[in-house]
Amino acid sequence: MNTILNDYADEVQAILARYPQDQKRSAVMPLIHLVQARDGYVTKQAMTEIAEIVGISVTDVASVVGFYTLYHEEKGGRYHLQVCTDLPCALRGADEFLAKLCENIGIKVGETTPDGVITIEEVTCLAGCHHAPMFQVQGDGAITYHENQSVDSALEIIAELRRKAAAQEAE
Ligand code: FES
Repeated sequence: MNTILNDYADEVQAILARYPQDQKRSAVMPLIHLVQARDGYVTKQAMTEIAEIVGISVTDVASVVGFYTLYHEEKGGRYHLQVCTDLPCALRGADEFLAKLCENIGIKVGETTPDGVITIEEVTCLAGCHHAPMFQVQGDGAITYHENQSVDSALEIIAELRRKAAAQEAE
């Protein structure tokens, strides 16, 4: 069975070694990060394992995963395109931007395009409020920020991501 301890015993021990024995709970985020880097998302089983390793409840681990937009609970597309619709961005048209973008690529918020390349998500403040509509793209181990977007410019970015994904598939 694939488990974090089976697959990454050395990495887990290295992470735990950074913290005093009675502060193992501090390792929760690095362990979540380890799992996400491996799988692209954090399963319930992984949350259970992490909870056991650091000695906290599964609910506590799940609340950390749920809180941060960098962590995903479900397998999504190769790239997560995360649009901020918090109030300041909403005042600059983020909701309409998101709705039109979804309409253009034919999926709803939270869904993944049939080619498996793009998942669209709605998130809260990404610290680019005065440059909305804005979004971040997570994928390939990196995050890029895109501010002052229009639906057309976002579609160009999506087209570029699809080209990149196709090129990587062809390698
Ligand atoms: S409210 Fe959207 S980036 Fe701050």
